[in-house]
Amino acid sequence: MSPHFQPVALEHASRLINHGPTVLVTSVHGGRRNVMAAAWSMPVEFTPPRIAVVIDKSTFTRELVMASGAFALCLPGAGIVDLTYAVGSDSGRDTDKFERLGIAARPGPVLGMPVIEAGCAAWLECRLIPERHTEAAYDTCFAEVVAAAADARVFSNGRWHFGDDNAALQTIHHLGAGNFVRAGGVLRAKA
Ligand SMILES: Cc1cc2nc3c(=O)[nH]c(=O)nc-3n(C[C@H](O)[C@H](O)[C@H](O)COP(=O)(O)O)c2cc1C
Repeated sequence: MSPHFQPVALEHASRLINHGPTVLVTSVHGGRRNVMAAAWSMPVEFTPPRIAVVIDKSTFTRELVMASGAFALCLPGAGIVDLTYAVGSDSGRDTDKFERLGIAARPGPVLGMPVIEAGCAAWLECRLIPERHTEAAYDTCFAEVVAAAADARVFSNGRWHFGDDNAALQTIHHLGAGNFVRAGGVLRAKA
């Protein structure tokens, strides 16, 4: 485990993806593992923490997630934007993207999903909530977050801390066609 990663209380897990970061969906089943990029994820419930993510039925990820009933969302920092785009640009059906791209991962604490910490700001381990209709009709998969952790240099005490000192760990947001913006322009609304 990265020395910078600290567990995130489950009641704060929704804050990790509240601002719509691009995520890496990781999965493993039957000796095969995989990772893909996903721009479309969101929280849907605070407690218990539940999320939704669109995982297209053509992806190898979808196959593994349906088989294992689990996945993890890892939040890439700006420092690994190229890697994020790479894992979203081809399929892991025939090659192990972790091996090919030199991505280090370890089994998550509850479900054993591959969690990526190097270059990432946070991860959430998720148990699929089977919803056959939304999966089939909209490729939208619901899940409960069962464990979460974040790099304390950018998220601690249930809050993001975006500043000049952690730009490489700030989350990225997909504009389309490989263009991203980095989180960090924090605005504080008056009460
Ligand atoms: C930035 C980015 C965001 C993406 N967002 C999604 C998404 O939200 N849902 C989805 O199904 N595919 C999304 N994709 C496409 C998948 O990552 C892509 O199809 C991937 O090759 C699937 O890999 P796999 O077959 O190894 O699972 C995105 C790709 C990129 C580059």
